[in-house]
Amino acid sequence: MTRMKTQEIKQLLKTRYGKCAEAGEATMTCCSASETGRNSSVAAEHGLYSTAELSSLPEISRGLSRGCGNPTGFAGLTPGEVVVDFGCGAGIDVILAARKVIPGGQVIGVDFSPQMIERAKQAISEAGLLDAVEFVVADLEQVTAPDGCADVVTSNCVINLCPDKEAVYREIFRILKPGGRVAISDIVYKEKIDPTVREHFEKTWSGCVGGSIDEESYFKVLDDAGFVDIEVVARHLLQQRELEEMACCPGPEFAPKPDEVDLQDVRGKVASIKFTAAKPPING
Ligand SMILES: C[S@@+](CC[C@H](N)C(=O)[O-])C[C@H]1O[C@@H](n2cnc3c(N)ncnc32)[C@H](O)[C@@H]1O
Repeated sequence: MTRMKTQEIKQLLKTRYGKCAEAGEATMTCCSASETGRNSSVAAEHGLYSTAELSSLPEISRGLSRGCGNPTGFAGLTPGEVVVDFGCGAGIDVILAARKVIPGGQVIGVDFSPQMIERAKQAISEAGLLDAVEFVVADLEQVTAPDGCADVVTSNCVINLCPDKEAVYREIFRILKPGGRVAISDIVYKEKIDPTVREHFEKTWSGCVGGSIDEESYFKVLDDAGFVDIEVVARHLLQQRELEEMACCPGPEFAPKPDEVDLQDVRGKVASIKFTAAKPPING
């Protein structure tokens, strides 16, 4: 079985998320939604956001939301802070962050899908937040932000997709101010996975499962990058339907549905985690 190279994986992801963004906010998000013929949004269906937050968002970013948490809900954002959202998609967390850091603050959304960024710009305009937000089309391994520019980096269900997680966390560390922090939701394995099953998922880089690693290895990546005070805010084992959705994210129209037997094998072993961590202060 041939493994995909890093550049192939990134191209595949750009295509999947680009097509999803082009299809727009009415796209179905998950395997089961497609089977039942329902329109749904992961954010709305799994209670990731409050009803008040959801009803305050433009339909574009709500419908194209593909997260597994709500990072601005535990980032402790305050007015005046600079936030960079890694893998902002159609801008759901950029909008929520911008509302918390104005006046005086700024949010920069980064994503390598130009189509997603277009959708996010549309949403920001609808939300009336143009003055507080900027977007950058870039790979998360090399964002254009200068060293030490951010108080907070948020990310929602993105780094699991990245083949070189070490490079992404080095980049986050670089752009954070000393004493800055991260608030991140992501997908990890809670247990070691059968190597053959892993290979099957990796072969097609299945949704948000194909690139995932186990939680211990994940936090070692943060540790190696220099982060301290890693605190898990919440951990949730994905239920059957959530697992099916995550395994073909951004939706069955855009990514292949994994083999049923493989999915059964990882059932109860895949979790969404929400955590914070800090870059040490200069004299810390
Ligand atoms: C699962 S979606 C989550 C989007 C958004 N955070 C949300 O909660 O709706 C993943 C996003 O990460 C972006 N992405 C994946 N790998 C990336 C990379 N290496 N560089 C930049 N963006 C990336 C995709 O284009 C997509 O928009």
